[in-house]
Amino acid sequence: MIPTTPSVSGTLPGPRSSELLAAQRELLYPGTGDHGYPMVAARKSGWMVQDVDGNVFVDLASASASVPLGAGREDLAAAAAEMLVRYGNEDSHALFHELIVPLAQRLLAITPDSLTRVDIALNGTEAVEIALKLMRRATGRQHVLAFYGSYHGESTMTATLGAEQNEISAGLRTLSTGFLHAPYPHPYRSPFGPPRSGGTGDATVDFIRDQLLFHAVHPGEIAGVVIEPVAGSGGVLRPPDAFWRALVELCQEYDWLLCLDEVKTGFGRTGEMFAADLWGLQPDMMCLGKAMGGGVMPIGAVLGSERAMGGYDDVPTGSTWAWLPASCAAALASLDVFEKEGVLDNVKALHAVSSEMLMPLKERFPQVGDVRVQGCFVAIELVTDPVSRARAPKLQERLALACLTRGVMADSSTASLNLQPSLVMDPAALRSALALVVDALEETLS
Ligand SMILES: Cc1ncc(COP(=O)(O)O)c(C=O)c1O
Repeated sequence: MIPTTPSVSGTLPGPRSSELLAAQRELLYPGTGDHGYPMVAARKSGWMVQDVDGNVFVDLASASASVPLGAGREDLAAAAAEMLVRYGNEDSHALFHELIVPLAQRLLAITPDSLTRVDIALNGTEAVEIALKLMRRATGRQHVLAFYGSYHGESTMTATLGAEQNEISAGLRTLSTGFLHAPYPHPYRSPFGPPRSGGTGDATVDFIRDQLLFHAVHPGEIAGVVIEPVAGSGGVLRPPDAFWRALVELCQEYDWLLCLDEVKTGFGRTGEMFAADLWGLQPDMMCLGKAMGGGVMPIGAVLGSERAMGGYDDVPTGSTWAWLPASCAAALASLDVFEKEGVLDNVKALHAVSSEMLMPLKERFPQVGDVRVQGCFVAIELVTDPVSRARAPKLQERLALACLTRGVMADSSTASLNLQPSLVMDPAALRSALALVVDALEETLS
């Protein structure tokens, strides 16, 4: 058992972690070996992590929001293990198994009614790759509109689609063409002022209409839009309601497909089962991954309307390990947990705790430019000063380290310091962990 209170002794990394990290640095590609927390994990349980030196951390990162219901849950792992023994690892495209239909049915039952078809995927990146292929095939159009500050994966295609940070696709961007971008619709960093009178009601969609569709690409050549309904790695950005009204109108006018990337937002993270439900969106496509496997197995999916995914069969999709029987079992078992354990009610309670404890920080510290809370999705955006709003990534790194030395794991690989607690975390435990974050902030900004 891991203790439920964080405790870190001495500096990080501890001696055993230092040894392993040094060996790792010699062997791994530096882009992997030089990132990550300065410690090596020994075990995880619930929302706690213990490292190989015995230090104990509260996990507010949840493995980039891919462990929704607590780490290594025995009920989910047992469901997966049963199928591993029964089937081993099998290519679900070639040898169908009994869990495919129930999982597809369950997914279609809980997602927007516009979605009627499912394709199977190994993870979020693959789901988005598949969606891009299908959007182009379904419409016969090559271009896809996406948003700066979004994240859709690390493959060459999805990194170019995402345009999150320069370094993600340095040297690679021009190798994948066919994407155009608008700034992600969020008031804190929008380069646009308020929507102009006589426009669509949303400044981002005005920009798409007035500029991109006039100067860049003919609307009839665009297959559709891929967007995270709440941008996750970009810093928990929730678009204004008017944006969705104007975007849906735009899609309808030009017959574009609207594809929601719910790889990070899906399965309760934002307080609704899917972020689409925050606005009642009826997308043509939806990509899923991360939390879908309950934090014990990898799995992803693409869902689509008949138009998007029903009328052709000549696009090969997926890969060998997609929808392993064990992954399907874990996904089905985690959907049972959502149904039986009031998970979304707990997310609302956690939302209230985060809002109460973190929102006042904007008033207290000029370098806290913005705090955003959406369910179990939280971002603290640091800036050099509130007027210029210049990003402060070094300050963010120092804050993340100050959190870690207090025993709190935050996600700093993102555009803001993101906190993504387990959806089943005890609200009192979140309160204690956030008190440590506030303490870390006081030290970092003083
Ligand atoms: C919104 C979004 N889409 C796609 C992906 C890619 O998913 P994966 O890394 O699980 O393949 C991610 C990963 O963080 C994501 O956040």
